[in-house]
Amino acid sequence: MAANTRSASLLLRLTMLFSLAAAAPPRSNETRDGGGGKTLSFTLYQQETINKTAYMVVDGVAGAGVSQTTTPFGTVYVFRDNLTVHADGASPVVGVAEGTSITTSLDGLLSLSLAKITIHHRGHRGSVSVLGGTHNTRQSDYPVVGGTGDFAYALGYVRSSPVDLRGSTVTYKMELRLYWPPYAPYAPTPQ
Ligand SMILES: *[C@@H]1O[C@H](CO)[C@@H](O)[C@H](O)[C@H]1NC(C)=O
Ligand SMILES: *[C@@H]1O[C@H](CO)[C@@H](O)[C@H](O)[C@H]1NC(C)=O
Ligand SMILES: *[C@@H]1O[C@H](CO)[C@@H](O)[C@H](O)[C@H]1NC(C)=O
Repeated sequence: MAANTRSASLLLRLTMLFSLAAAAPPRSNETRDGGGGKTLSFTLYQQETINKTAYMVVDGVAGAGVSQTTTPFGTVYVFRDNLTVHADGASPVVGVAEGTSITTSLDGLLSLSLAKITIHHRGHRGSVSVLGGTHNTRQSDYPVVGGTGDFAYALGYVRSSPVDLRGSTVTYKMELRLYWPPYAPYAPTPQ
């Protein structure tokens, strides 16, 4: 997602860890539960190119070195990646994921990631913010900490998994699973 730990080495390790998957069709749907809550799901694709949409801005200081699966403790990575409706990077852009990832374990495998995911898609417009941990060799589920616009007061999670590698570009499947509890409609909304 949005916010996987990324480095130049990630490009290499992804080839080892994940096979290429066929692109699922984009989808989004909204349902209301019996208790007055609402759910909304989207699947989008995050397009990241090292040294173009994502950069390592601070070198790490200790622990594991840069390898196919690790980055040194303290490495800071910043990204601003387009979100497309299909895995194909040439498909329509419907949003952007901007954020950062900081390596937080001495073995170089874990990081803290945060991102703002801005979406204008299928009649929904706004942003979702996520904050959570990334394990470099596993799929990541990020808790949604809030949103703006049509996503104000959203809860839920965003699941990120790499699906494609073309040259220096990595494509991540980003599954947004949002939930509004029944009390959300009564919360104040910025005008
Ligand atoms: C990105 O840029 C840095 C600094 O110029 C360089 O060391 C690194 O090899 C580049 N990575 C890729 C994948 O091009
Ligand atoms: C809504 O999305 C969920 C999760 O992706 C999916 O399981 C379900 O089939 C979808 N429902 C409709 C009506 O598309
Ligand atoms: C991201 O999308 C915007 C809007 O479509 C486009 O102008 C920009 O060139 C894209 N950036 C990259 C790196 O593809």
